Amino acid sequence: MSPFTRTNYVRVAVGAIVASFFVAVLLSRMPASVDASFSAEPQPTPKRARKYSEFPHDTKAHKLDCSSCHKFPSDNWKKARAADAAFEDVTEYPKHDSCVRCHMQQFFKGSQPQICSICHVNATPRNGVRHPFPNPRETFDTSAKGKIAESDFVVSFPHDKHIEIVAGNGTRSMSFINARFEETRRRNEASCSVCHQTQMPQGTSEDEFVTPPPAKIGDAFWLKKGTFKSGPNGHTTCFACHSAETGMLPAPQTCAACHQLKPPPIAVDFDAKLAAPMKIENKRMMDAWKRRDSSGTFRHEFFGHVELSCSTCHNVSTMKTADPKTTRVPIASCATCHATPTTDDGGALNYEVDKRKAEPAFQCVKCHITLGKLPIPESHVKAIVAASGK
Ligand code: HEC
Ligand code: HEC
Ligand code: HEC
Ligand code: HEC
Ligand code: HEC
Ligand code: HEC
Ligand code: HEC
Ligand code: HEC
Ligand code: HEC
Repeated sequence: MSPFTRTNYVRVAVGAIVASFFVAVLLSRMPASVDASFSAEPQPTPKRARKYSEFPHDTKAHKLDCSSCHKFPSDNWKKARAADAAFEDVTEYPKHDSCVRCHMQQFFKGSQPQICSICHVNATPRNGVRHPFPNPRETFDTSAKGKIAESDFVVSFPHDKHIEIVAGNGTRSMSFINARFEETRRRNEASCSVCHQTQMPQGTSEDEFVTPPPAKIGDAFWLKKGTFKSGPNGHTTCFACHSAETGMLPAPQTCAACHQLKPPPIAVDFDAKLAAPMKIENKRMMDAWKRRDSSGTFRHEFFGHVELSCSTCHNVSTMKTADPKTTRVPIASCATCHATPTTDDGGALNYEVDKRKAEPAFQCVKCHITLGKLPIPESHVKAIVAASGK
């Protein structure tokens, strides 16, 4: 089939008027199997107006095997990271053949079809330049697309199956430690830092804020350094063990073993309007803040907090990272210090509860950004009762 006759065929098939050379270029990039099958596939009939500018994983028709779109490893995996840090990984967008069998219509719509913008910067039949793929995030997060992108997924990571075997300094040469029953907590908690470090610690610096606050900040909230812990930024740590060489399951190409669609949103202790003037460029930090649903102001790096064992506040054996209800930090772990027998003993929780009782419009701000506007939950009342010893 010559490019010319192919072009006419597509015109009839999709009923769209397109520049013939445009279609010819696109089709020349498509494998023959797709070319042969597309006319037999039913075309999607949109029920509502769709913009086709963002790819949703949760659309019914997209809930396919991950491998039908994501090929492991990508052709470019050796180029996506520095030579000494490269490993087999998915580092490029799915190719046209993952989409066209269902989206022929969108692929040939107008001179610059909207759907191209999901993967391409400024797609034309000759310009194939793409946004960086969301992995590795070090590159993606600093791109125009990456700065505003939100993931469709959460990571499911069973801490209980890992804490005794993960150790070392976080490099890819981590050693396997014999799990012994007498493993100390200290040993296990040293493992936490392989994957979780304090983000932007204040350390010995005088400057406690993440970005410069306005001159007249007063008691108003402004984000401080050392608030958030980081998490794994991608596959480097996981694939050190979960690789073809080690044979440790889940295998790297079984994406769904670790990635699960986001659960329905729950109330978080975050306010985009309050955060906006802070102009925080660090995407990881903002991602952590947006997920906080216990205390939006809690700082890990703080003299009263930093010496505590992680297990004071986090129970990693009952935590399911894909279920936010199980990762919540109970107020009981704060109450040992922030609730006192009476308000005069200095407990911040007592103080705020008293204030709220006196003034119904009082907003609790010590530990909260937005949750402090809501009614006082049962857990807080119980914590005060427990502290009073009655
Ligand atoms: C129908 C094709 C298709 C299928 C099936 C698919 N993906 Fe994707 N995936 C894409 C495209 C296209 C992108 C790029 C989207 C973007 O950058 O906006 C992407 C991006 C991603 C990203 C990065 C963006 C984000 O939301 O975090 C992850 C992670 C991902 N896919 C995981 C998966 C997993 C896990 C599965 C299987 C459960 C899967 N994908 C199935 C097409 C697909
Ligand atoms: C198996 C068929 C199928 C495949 C493969 C497929 N899609 Fe879709 N896609 C659909 C259907 C059907 C809809 C419309 C859903 C509806 O009407 O409810 C859709 C909707 C969309 C939307 C609009 C979402 C919205 O709500 O605005 C985008 C964007 C999209 N697809 C992009 C892609 C891309 C990019 C690929 C390839 C990586 C792809 N799709 C692969 C069937 C598919
Ligand atoms: C789901 C992501 C995705 C979408 C949507 C998409 N492309 Fe692509 N495109 C790619 C990838 C990946 C390649 C590289 C393919 C390869 O290496 O074989 C590519 C290659 C190209 C190339 C060749 C450039 C080169 O470097 O080889 C052109 C031109 C192109 N695309 C145009 C378009 C146009 C026009 C649209 C919209 C009608 C579109 N693409 C939609 C992912 C996409
Ligand atoms: C091998 C890497 C790894 C190790 C080691 C590890 N974690 Fe995690 N942790 C993760 C991943 C992955 C998540 C999922 C969240 C994400 O996507 O960042 C997570 C999530 C968490 C969360 C929930 C965050 C939230 O969503 O609220 C807490 C708390 C946590 N880890 C604490 C710990 C503690 C305490 C230890 C040590 C006992 C530990 N982790 C060891 C990888 C690890
Ligand atoms: C005094 C209590 C306390 C201690 C001790 C503590 N954390 Fe946290 N941690 C919290 C609170 C509160 C949150 C916010 C939870 C939320 O709102 O979702 C949190 C959140 C996290 C998160 C998610 C990212 C973030 O900052 O929001 C990770 C990961 C985490 N903690 C790891 C650790 C590790 C590792 C240790 C030990 C080195 C530790 N934490 C010690 C209270 C604590
Ligand atoms: C030190 C090696 C090591 C590292 C690093 C590691 N894993 Fe694992 N992982 C294992 C082993 C071994 C198992 C099997 C444990 C078992 O079945 O008891 C496992 C099991 C799993 C399972 C399956 C658990 C189940 O219920 O079957 C998941 C999911 C998983 N790992 C995710 C991750 C993620 C995500 C990361 C990176 C944040 C990671 N792993 C890093 C060694 C590792
Ligand atoms: C062993 C567990 C594991 C497997 C298997 C796995 N991933 Fe991931 N992936 C992770 C973790 C952990 C992160 C980084 C943490 C996060 O996103 O919160 C990540 C990050 C990503 C990112 C960067 C964007 C983002 O959401 O942070 C993409 C894209 C991605 N994975 C795609 C895939 C695809 C496609 C597959 C299958 C070929 C796959 N992953 C298999 C654990 C895994
Ligand atoms: C010392 C820190 C601290 C103070 C002070 C505090 N809270 Fe909380 N709050 C927490 C923590 C931790 C959680 C999450 C776990 C829980 O509810 O036990 C929480 C959760 C909440 C929730 C969500 C409850 C739910 O079940 O969804 C609301 C609403 C709330 N607080 C309101 C308030 C109000 C109103 C005040 C002032 C009277 C207040 N908090 C003072 C730490 C605090
Ligand atoms: C071991 C005692 C202890 C525990 C447990 C504890 N804190 Fe604190 N926290 C302190 C001390 C001491 C201070 C400094 C005095 C003050 O501001 O009350 C403080 C200060 C704070 C501040 C103010 C920080 C700042 O930058 O000004 C917040 C917010 C806070 N804690 C939240 C919490 C939350 C939420 C929890 C439970 C998840 C918690 N704390 C658990 C001892 C503790």
